[in-house]
Amino acid sequence: MKMLRDSFGRTFPYIRLSITDVCNFKCGYCLPNGYQKDKSDNRKFLSSKEIERLAKGLSELGVCKIRLTGGEPTVRKDFFDIVKILKNKTGIKKTVITTNGYRLDKIANQIAESGLDGINISIDSLNRETFKNVTGHDRLPEILKGIEKLQQLNFKNIKINAVLLKGINDNEKDFNEWSKFVKNNEIDFRYIELMQTGDGLDYFKKYHVPAKVFTNHINKNGWIFQTLGRDAGPSKNYINPSFKGKFGVIAPYSKDFCKSCNRLRITARGDLRLCLFGNTGISIRHLLQRDDQLEELKDLISKQLNFKKESHYLELGETGLMNNLSTTGG
Ligand code: 5AD
Ligand code: SF4
Repeated sequence: MKMLRDSFGRTFPYIRLSITDVCNFKCGYCLPNGYQKDKSDNRKFLSSKEIERLAKGLSELGVCKIRLTGGEPTVRKDFFDIVKILKNKTGIKKTVITTNGYRLDKIANQIAESGLDGINISIDSLNRETFKNVTGHDRLPEILKGIEKLQQLNFKNIKINAVLLKGINDNEKDFNEWSKFVKNNEIDFRYIELMQTGDGLDYFKKYHVPAKVFTNHINKNGWIFQTLGRDAGPSKNYINPSFKGKFGVIAPYSKDFCKSCNRLRITARGDLRLCLFGNTGISIRHLLQRDDQLEELKDLISKQLNFKKESHYLELGETGLMNNLSTTGG
């Protein structure tokens, strides 16, 4: 089987594809002032036809999983059409999404029916007030209701991500609340260590806390490190026999974090990004215009991989191109 491979021997079975920059939330670490249209960039977001051609090419390059991200992917009117296309017309085996869940109670049925293979929901706190303060929206009850609906519909592979924030969700009380949740729900919960972005330097200084505060908690409470599978991503996962769900930690500043990198990113306007942080990336959109460009598209993507660097060099304070994560969906 053909596989995308870089010069460090890493393979890339997994693509994160942003389908819109638009987001209706105002997360403090991402879009504190809400989504602002970039007036210097008039390009439209990829159309469903362009996405179809892209996914076909990727599938022929050995990509088996695509994660739709945003901004907030479900704000797109044709969101479920895109899912249908990925599922039925492209050869991609797994289609999953990352969402802030703002419409989850309303679209849980459609999600379950769409054939999506998994969903990651961002919830920074189970405390309604805190959730509201971080995201700018008092939507926690609706999101939790949406999750319950998905569970009733027997939807599998639900994950929750929270960004770990000093003084906001990083104390024992927060960890215990998540414990209770994970005990009773077959849902994986992961903390992501806050990453420094171009826009968010002050925020980072104020709220960054090493993921260790959570791993310490895990280690004290009988969680067992789950050894990494071959396709494992950057999340280190822990299991506990008396819990239905799992815990996970994503620590982008940890040594060797990039060694397990198995993903590439494509922005909503069709730029290939080799790394979340790298300033290496080119537009591949001109090769998404006709069906007969497929071979050329595959060739360009394969060749680009030679430019992927070994590490993100974040520890050197580099933030690359990235002002915030709304264009690459994290
Ligand atoms: N650091 C860490 N995680 C972030 N996310 C967005 N911005 C940051 C940041 N600066 C997360 C969101 C979501 C995912 C898409 O990326 O909370 O879970
Ligand atoms: Fe929107 Fe996600 Fe950014 Fe929050 S982190 S503002 S939900 S894109």
